Amino acid sequence: MSPFQLTRTLPEDATSAALRADVRHGLTRSPKELPPKWFYDARGSELFEEITRLPEYYPTRAEREILAGRARDIAAATGARTLVELGSGSSEKTRFLLDALPDLHSYIPVDVSESALTGAGEALLADRPGLHVHALIADFTHVLALPDAPGPRLVAFLGGTVGNLLPDERADFLRSVRALLAPGDALLLGTDLVKDERVLVAAYDDAAGVTADFNKNVLAVVNRELDADFPLDGFDHVAVWNDRREWIEMRLRARERANVKIRGLDLVVPFEAGEEIRTEVSAKFRQEGVRSELAAAGMKLTEWWTDAEGRFALSLSTM
Ligand code: AVJ
Repeated sequence: MSPFQLTRTLPEDATSAALRADVRHGLTRSPKELPPKWFYDARGSELFEEITRLPEYYPTRAEREILAGRARDIAAATGARTLVELGSGSSEKTRFLLDALPDLHSYIPVDVSESALTGAGEALLADRPGLHVHALIADFTHVLALPDAPGPRLVAFLGGTVGNLLPDERADFLRSVRALLAPGDALLLGTDLVKDERVLVAAYDDAAGVTADFNKNVLAVVNRELDADFPLDGFDHVAVWNDRREWIEMRLRARERANVKIRGLDLVVPFEAGEEIRTEVSAKFRQEGVRSELAAAGMKLTEWWTDAEGRFALSLSTM
């Protein structure tokens, strides 16, 4: 069996059908919204990589600090023979885990981006020729089954991306992860933590304006994919802390009244001056909240590790 396998569980046209549905639903409801998954075309992914290097954006550095410091504890706690990474992206974070899991037989990266999967898979195989890589092209919120691989398995969902899911979506997601686990398996979850509002807002509204470009890029995606005419300079980037929901909200605010044509949907979308599209929530967590959300999905939080400054946490949970 080739050491690198790729399984497509999304039909080829899944992405365009999903984009059309999300744009039609999101821009004809009030308040308007677009799901954050559409940020990540090639330019959006590039901008996100740039964001992870910004001085204000601490989550990536904080998580990397934990992974580097705790990889042996994670390996000892799980003895994983298979690592499944949801929303793997470039798998850069994964190296710490792979390096600390000496007995690893299989790595199953799951992502919607085929190019990210093949790129990461080939790079890993160069370093770990003995590893079996079975990449899955799938939306991490709809992973119904995993390829056969030896247990115990460690499912990793890193980066704090779980915070992009709204509470009910998170509950469904955690239940779907629980359904994938067998006795002895574990979930490694990255969660950004509640902290000083000024630190949080700065991380999503950096002085260099990279996050503003990242946010506006979703309009460029809609313009290109659906033949729309969003005026990118007609929308301002907004990042606010929602204290009641304990999440950062990113929005795009229309500078003036506009009627935006979306020819691909045969739709014209009106905007009042000052009207906003919510483009992302990024929830921030507390240990007890994570414990109870995992428990509601039938999982038990067994380890809680944070970076030295207590900005970000990795938790290990079992069924
Ligand atoms: C990749 C979803 C974890 O929510 O912090 C970064 C995306 N948005 N800056 C996050 C993001 C604005 C990031 N995640």
